[in-house]
Amino acid sequence: MYKKIRKAVFPVGGLGTRFLPATKSMPKEMLPVLNKPLIHHAFEEARNAGIEQFIFITGRNKNSINDHFDHAIELENFLEFKNNKDMLFLSKDCLIEPGNIVFLRQQQPLGLGHAVWCARNIIGDEPFAVILADDMFIEDRKCGILTEMIQYFQSDTTANIIGISKINISESKKYGIVKIGDGDIVEDMIEKPEVSDAPSGLAIVGRYILQPDIFYYLKGTEADKGGEIQLTNAMKKMLANSKFRAYRTNAYRLDCGNYLGYLEANVRFSLQNSEFSEPIKEMLKNILG
Ligand code: G1P
Repeated sequence: MYKKIRKAVFPVGGLGTRFLPATKSMPKEMLPVLNKPLIHHAFEEARNAGIEQFIFITGRNKNSINDHFDHAIELENFLEFKNNKDMLFLSKDCLIEPGNIVFLRQQQPLGLGHAVWCARNIIGDEPFAVILADDMFIEDRKCGILTEMIQYFQSDTTANIIGISKINISESKKYGIVKIGDGDIVEDMIEKPEVSDAPSGLAIVGRYILQPDIFYYLKGTEADKGGEIQLTNAMKKMLANSKFRAYRTNAYRLDCGNYLGYLEANVRFSLQNSEFSEPIKEMLKNILG
């Protein structure tokens, strides 16, 4: 029985249509929040949580994500020549041991479930994490949601864990919504329901710890009306045979998959940054008169 979560899957093959035209030739995961791309923040959260192997499910036009996790030789030479240690550190910060980073082509953007399924041969027979880079959190504690979820997982390593957060129920159509029974046990889940069909105001927030059995259910999951294989639908089928526990976070969630959430993330992260906090406050005061 595996107790440690060593591997994380980052689905980054989506088309990013909500950010067009910015994302016509640039992956939405490379949009920066402060000085780091969204995918870099997600990577840091995973690294802080003790993840050792990083599996990116990519697509065409996503090569700048690969490049971001590789050496930038000219830049490094230049910064070394200038003896600019701080920038050199930033440039090399997301390099990890060769062999522990994998880029897989999804070939077609067939949905989150399909993206996760693409990782099956790399994951093998152990529980693993899934991180959606769009979902960012601002926490009081600095350890990160995934760290907390992995600690939670340690109390019952046979379970699957889904990160959830309270939402305004009028927004149920944007999320996977869960029904929680006794304690933290997930009884049901439904992907993007109408408000009238939503079993609660608790939404899945882009952090999962899954048992490898999920691949069996993903394989048998049909595409939805939009042509996408939904992870939520596979998890729902798996519920009959496998325990899902909800990890509820009170951390402030930023939905960087839409423009307003993304802008808010930049403002909030700037306000938390020692260098930018005061200038941003001044700037906001000026803007708002
Ligand atoms: C995905 C999941 C959904 C979840 C959401 C969180 O949807 O399918 O269950 O609530 O992420 O951000 P997407 O935002 O990719 O449409």
